[in-house]
Amino acid sequence: MLRGEGCIVETRRVTDLKGVFADDAARARCPADRIAYSVQMHRATADGTTGGLFFGVTRIEPGTVGDECFMTRGHFHANADRGEYYWGIEGVGLLVLMTRDRQSSVQRVEPGSLHYIPGHTAHRLINTGEQALAVGACWPSDAGHDYDSIASAGFSVRVYRRNGEISIERVG
Ligand code: F6R
Ligand code: MN
Repeated sequence: MLRGEGCIVETRRVTDLKGVFADDAARARCPADRIAYSVQMHRATADGTTGGLFFGVTRIEPGTVGDECFMTRGHFHANADRGEYYWGIEGVGLLVLMTRDRQSSVQRVEPGSLHYIPGHTAHRLINTGEQALAVGACWPSDAGHDYDSIASAGFSVRVYRRNGEISIERVG
């Protein structure tokens, strides 16, 4: 939980995440008020300003859509060469990284784990655990977000929980 002047929170409900999960019909059946994740953040300067930093904590709830674990939408940065740090605070999950040519890698996120996301690399967090996954982030204030590239082609990895087992599946 972040406290301090200027902290804001953005909430994403499962029903907001059209097209994100493989089984969109299962997503549409989720209760309208079911929260998938929220991002608390502090933006010390105007969005798009070069030279500043933004800071946030993403909290992804435990759960699945069909069998697919709750996750963030995921994005490249609009200013594509901008990098970012993530670090695990609470809970367990995965960070999926993907290059423009769809080469993906997966890192385990747990309390204290540190993850450097290079520029030109899409990133998505996935909660594989049974409690909330909280992850800190720090990124340049001129990074921006490119969600459209992900909306059209998706990530090349999906993560499912079936009978308590986590399954990481390549989807091309
Ligand atoms: C900022 C960043 C995170 C995410 C947050 C939610 O560049 O990577 O703060 O914005 O984890 O994920 P998205 O934005 O993909 O819905
Ligand atoms: Mn980012």
